[in-house]
Amino acid sequence: MIANQQKPNPERPWLDPAATPQIVINGVSKTYGGFTAVDNISLSIYKGEMFALVGASGCGKTTLLRMLAGFANQTSGQITIDGIEMAGVPPHERPVNMMFQSYALFPHMTVEKNVGYGLKRMDLDSSAKKQRVKDALDMVQLGHLGQRKPHQLSGGQRQRVALARALIRRPKVLLLDEPLSALDKKLREKTQFELMDLQHQVGITFIVVTHDQDEAMALATRIAVMDRGKVVQVGTPSEIYEFPQSRFVADFVGTTNLFEGTVVTCEPGLITVNCAETGCDLVVDDVGRFTPGQKVWVALRPEKIRLSKQPSAGGRVNQLKGMVWELGYLGNRSTYQIKTATGKIVTVFAQNERRTSEWSIDWSDEVYVTWSVDAAVLLHT
Ligand SMILES: Nc1ncnc2c1ncn2[C@@H]1O[C@H](COP(=O)(O)OP(=O)(O)O)[C@@H](O)[C@H]1O
Ligand SMILES: [Mg+2]
Repeated sequence: MIANQQKPNPERPWLDPAATPQIVINGVSKTYGGFTAVDNISLSIYKGEMFALVGASGCGKTTLLRMLAGFANQTSGQITIDGIEMAGVPPHERPVNMMFQSYALFPHMTVEKNVGYGLKRMDLDSSAKKQRVKDALDMVQLGHLGQRKPHQLSGGQRQRVALARALIRRPKVLLLDEPLSALDKKLREKTQFELMDLQHQVGITFIVVTHDQDEAMALATRIAVMDRGKVVQVGTPSEIYEFPQSRFVADFVGTTNLFEGTVVTCEPGLITVNCAETGCDLVVDDVGRFTPGQKVWVALRPEKIRLSKQPSAGGRVNQLKGMVWELGYLGNRSTYQIKTATGKIVTVFAQNERRTSEWSIDWSDEVYVTWSVDAAVLLHT
C-alpha cells in the first residue's frame, strides 16, 4: 500500500522514523466498574498535527480527551506529553487545554471576562492579562464584541469565544470536543476552514473529536477511527478513505458497496473472488496477502463505478447488468441504486455534468455498472 518514507518529512512526521512524537498514548484503558470505555489505546501524535478522533457516540472519544486533559485518570497505560509522563500532573499544570462540546461559557460574564477566566491561575500582572485577552479576541476576530454577554452572540461567535478562552494560556496542545457540533451545516463548513487557519496561525497541536466523518476528512492531518473503546485504524484522510482495513471503517467513512465472496485465485496483484451476491467472479487489483478459499469482501466506492446503457466494449470483467431502482438528484450529482439480476443493490454516484442530458439514465432503465480492477479494495474482516 503506502510505503514508509525514510527521509525527514516535516509535513508528515509520522512517516519519518527519526521524528519524536509530542504525545504518546501507550496502552491506555479506562474502565468504569465492569465497563471498559477506552480499551488499550496506543497512539503517537506529532507537534502541529490536526489529529481527529472519530467514531459513533459512546465509543470513548470524550473519555480519551479527558484523560489527556487530566480530568480523568486512566485505569492502566501511560500518557506522555513532550517526554513527561502525565500521571499525577493536575489539569492546570499540563501543557494542554480543552474546549468543551457545550462551550461552558459563563452566562453572566462578558466575552472579555469569559476569555480572561482562562488566565485565573496564571502569574501575570493585570496589564499583561489585558493584553493577552485582547490578543486572544483579535485572533478569533471578536475584538469588537468584548463587552457582550454570551446570549448576545450567535452560535458561531460563542464557539469562537470558547476557542479564545481555550487558547489564551497558550497551551502546546488544544483538545476540542465536537467543536462544531452546535453549528448548522453551512456555518460548520465555514468554521472548519477558520479552525484550520487558526491552527496554522498558532502552530500548536489540535486533537479534535467528532462523530462527523466528513468533518474529520476535511480537517485532519490524520484520523483515528474508534469503535467500542478501541482504535480500529489510523491514517491520513485519503488512506482511511481509499484503503480502509475493515468493513467497519469502509462503512463508517463515506458510502461503500460491499460484496461478500471467496477468493478463487491470487495472481500477483490480481485476485479473483467468487461472489454469489453478484452471480459472477469479481477481479480486484490488491497487493494484500490472500489465499484461495478465504472469505473476503470487495469494497467499492460509489463514485468509482461507471454507469451506462450499453455494455462496455472491454469485456465482462467487473460488469453487472441491472436496472435503476432508486434515483436521487442532488444538484451536482445523482445517486443511483441499481438492482442487479441477483437482487443485489449497488449504489452509484454520478456527477451531473450537463444541465439536461439526452443520455441521462432514468428510473427503470436497464443499465450496466462497470468498474476497473483497481477501483475496489479487498477486506478480510
Ligand atoms: N463517568 C462515567 N461513568 C460511567 N460510564 C461512563 C462515564 N463516562 C463515560 N462513560 C461511558 O463510557 C462510554 C464512552 O463515553 P464517551 O467517552 O463520552 O463517548 P463519546 O465521547 O465517544 O460519545 C459510554 O458508554 C459512556 O456511557
Ligand atoms: Mg463525547
